[in-house]
Amino acid sequence: MKTIIEPFRIKMIEPIKLTTREQREQMIRAAHYNPFRLRAEDVVIDLLTDSGTSAMSSEAWGAMMRGDESYAGARSWYRFRDTVKDIFGFKQVIPTHQGRAAEHILFGVMVKPDSIVPNNTHFDTTRGNIEFVGGTPVDLPCVEADDLDSDAPFKGNMNIEALEKLVAEHGPQRIPVIMVTITNNSGGGQPVSMANIREISRVARSAGIPFYIDACRFAENAHFIKHREKGFADSAPIDIAREMFSYADGCTMSAKKDSFGNIGGFLCTNDAELAHKERNILIMTEGFPTYGGLAGRDLEAIAVGLRETLDEHYLDYRLLSTRYVVERLRESGIPVMAPAGGHAVYLDARRFLPQIEPLQYPGQSLSVELYIEAGIRAVEIGTVMFGLDAHTGEESPARHDLLRLAIPRRVYTQSHMDYVLEAINLVWGRREQIRGMKIVKAPRFLRHFTAHFDYV
Ligand code: F0G
Repeated sequence: MKTIIEPFRIKMIEPIKLTTREQREQMIRAAHYNPFRLRAEDVVIDLLTDSGTSAMSSEAWGAMMRGDESYAGARSWYRFRDTVKDIFGFKQVIPTHQGRAAEHILFGVMVKPDSIVPNNTHFDTTRGNIEFVGGTPVDLPCVEADDLDSDAPFKGNMNIEALEKLVAEHGPQRIPVIMVTITNNSGGGQPVSMANIREISRVARSAGIPFYIDACRFAENAHFIKHREKGFADSAPIDIAREMFSYADGCTMSAKKDSFGNIGGFLCTNDAELAHKERNILIMTEGFPTYGGLAGRDLEAIAVGLRETLDEHYLDYRLLSTRYVVERLRESGIPVMAPAGGHAVYLDARRFLPQIEPLQYPGQSLSVELYIEAGIRAVEIGTVMFGLDAHTGEESPARHDLLRLAIPRRVYTQSHMDYVLEAINLVWGRREQIRGMKIVKAPRFLRHFTAHFDYV
């Protein structure tokens, strides 16, 4: 059969409240034109994030019932730890309540005020957590990443030449850790190749710098490698995942992505001494090392989800459903990042709305219009998110102004996606009338979450 279907049946549903355009105009105004400030029930299709929004399976819900809620040494902890070790292969596993808690602990132990941390592209919380302890995050995306139209297979890669230069210039004294994010979320959900991971590892090891993977969407990355990189066509996703992590010294993980958790995360390392320091912080901020801010039932659900996320039929459907939307948009001539990434569709807001300059936030305007048009909620990944230098307070255009429509796992069907496509086409048809925005009020760190906007 050529038709790829959703490889699951629906046995529990959550109604969607439908709203009128007038209601939505009023609600987005009351939310100060920031979709993060909307009530979720006022959203028709919620593509704000794929994080914590997945549908769990009946297996995972069943596992939750056997959650062992003992404070120390719970059965659920061992199940969780053994699953993580089996897939990720690191010696030390530290559970956290979500990915950013793992980042906070890792950078709190490793990063100092004059440190530099390279990454293919930092996600906003990684960037924020490095800056919070005084370090400087540096993005080193590959050259192909700049061309949003090209179909290069691994646009999430890190620029190895730039990494070597940075390492030669600053050395291990100032670079405490090298990171790579798979898939590259802020860079369009694009995958990182195994060859690139090997190269980063080589550079890190020869300089004596630990190499960590931000592993949130590791299964999607593994499946891209299977389909796009020579030599992996016959490998199972779990074996590709194991190989990716074998080149690293540790990882941070948000179990809210590729493990279908509604909450959860972990930090891994092979360094027992470092893990000891990390657990001391964990006890103070998250919880005892055998639960780390999670209920036993969450540990159980994640252990099940980590296996399900590596299922090939699920991954085929997952990557294809994103591609379906991207290809329809390209057919309509709508500027969208190519090729399709794993977890999200990224509209190129700067080209969608060329009349709006970057410092008037075209991505934010587009997100407001999509909400007004059809109740779709998406997130700006551009100058609002990345344009402010937290140290100097200066603002400049981000590398790109994108609007990310993240697709929650196993939640929406193809007809929901057809509705989204129709809405984008309608906004495209009236794009010339859309105006830019200004920030009325915002904090210094992670301003996009809470900022107030208005039309210029
Ligand atoms: N790293 C990456 C690449 C992420 O995408 C995220 C979260 C995190 C770390 C932090 O994990 O949310 O569990 O604390 N990304 C979500 C998103 C929020 O919408 O892309 P967390």
